[in-house]
Amino acid sequence: MTTSSNVKISIPEAAQPVLVTGGTGFLGRAVVAALLAQGAAVRVAARRPDRLPPELRDAERFTADLATPDSFEPALEGVGAVIHTAVSYGSFERQQQVNVRGTQALARLAAERGVRRFVHISSLAVYGYRHSEIVTEETPPVPSRDPYSMTKRIAEKAVQATPNLNWVILRPGAIYGPYAPLWTSALFQLARRRPFLFIGDGRGRLPLVHVDDVVEAILRVLDDSAAVCEAFNLVHPEPVTWRDVLSAYAAAAGQTLRWRAVPTALAATVASVAALTSFSPSMRAALPELLYFLEHAPSFSTDKLQRTLGWQPQVSLTEGIRRTQFYLDHLIEPNT
Ligand SMILES: NC(=O)c1ccc[n+]([C@@H]2O[C@H](COP(=O)([O-])OP(=O)(O)OC[C@H]3O[C@@H](n4cnc5c(N)ncnc54)[C@H](OP(=O)(O)O)[C@@H]3O)[C@@H](O)[C@H]2O)c1
Repeated sequence: MTTSSNVKISIPEAAQPVLVTGGTGFLGRAVVAALLAQGAAVRVAARRPDRLPPELRDAERFTADLATPDSFEPALEGVGAVIHTAVSYGSFERQQQVNVRGTQALARLAAERGVRRFVHISSLAVYGYRHSEIVTEETPPVPSRDPYSMTKRIAEKAVQATPNLNWVILRPGAIYGPYAPLWTSALFQLARRRPFLFIGDGRGRLPLVHVDDVVEAILRVLDDSAAVCEAFNLVHPEPVTWRDVLSAYAAAAGQTLRWRAVPTALAATVASVAALTSFSPSMRAALPELLYFLEHAPSFSTDKLQRTLGWQPQVSLTEGIRRTQFYLDHLIEPNT
């Protein structure tokens, strides 16, 4: 496995060492790679820090678990900034423990140690899934029964309420790029299926953002006081649909996508039946809104991020697929 970085932004001395929680995960690894490429002192904390790929081993590794937040104390000692990417996508109880209580305790520990910047990686999921208009940072969330949406929203509030914390909240959309398990690997494999089936006509928007654009925004907020105590949407403004993305992945595999739509009503019925047997009660409850989102995802404004930080998305879908092609080729190698 190779983790490279296309992002070049100098890291202020005062932010170092930078602690990346979840630095072994998909986004975390990309952040660690970019920080190391700038020569920054980096720490990684996770339950299994040895999963850090060899090329990122210049980062100092700490074993820590958000279920027992005091385990982060050694990793926090003397750090200038925390980039909090660690997350659980598990059961509702697990997400409450890790995403909410773990984040709350970590933010408090960071504030007590005088950490200068706490960058909390949130998600557009905090808005809920049933919006029809352009969503800005001021848009009130619609209630959601999705555990991820709920816990990420409560976690944000916990971070914002932490006394003496210079927090910044970034809310990325669907992050794709090399090593993205869902928005690249899973969608690429879906696009290659024969026959290819998808719910609806695929004209709903997918709020996509390339990992390099996310990493650039993260590094920028380490050194910009205008970002402190602000939350920002983080998505590419190019309006791409599910059909665009799946067609692009199919083309990257040398195939042409022949779209076969499963009617949404039928999909909802099948999904409900499947959910009865295989999903947790909380996921089951969230299914209708997730299916709605598939066809009706709104636009998310990034004006605030562009205005405040001068962030400009660099990676269109075409460029993003180009940057990801080496990984897609690896996915179709025999025995992978
Ligand atoms: N991926 C996306 O498309 C996307 C979109 C929007 C927002 N986000 C946000 O971006 C962040 C990173 O997401 P990701 O998809 O890159 O996650 P990921 O690949 O699943 O990585 C999660 C990381 O968190 C660590 N972790 C999990 N449970 C932990 C615990 N109890 N204590 C300490 N560390 C723990 C994992 O390492 P161990 O298992 O070794 O502990 C791993 O390093 C998250 O905050 C997520 O909400 C992601």
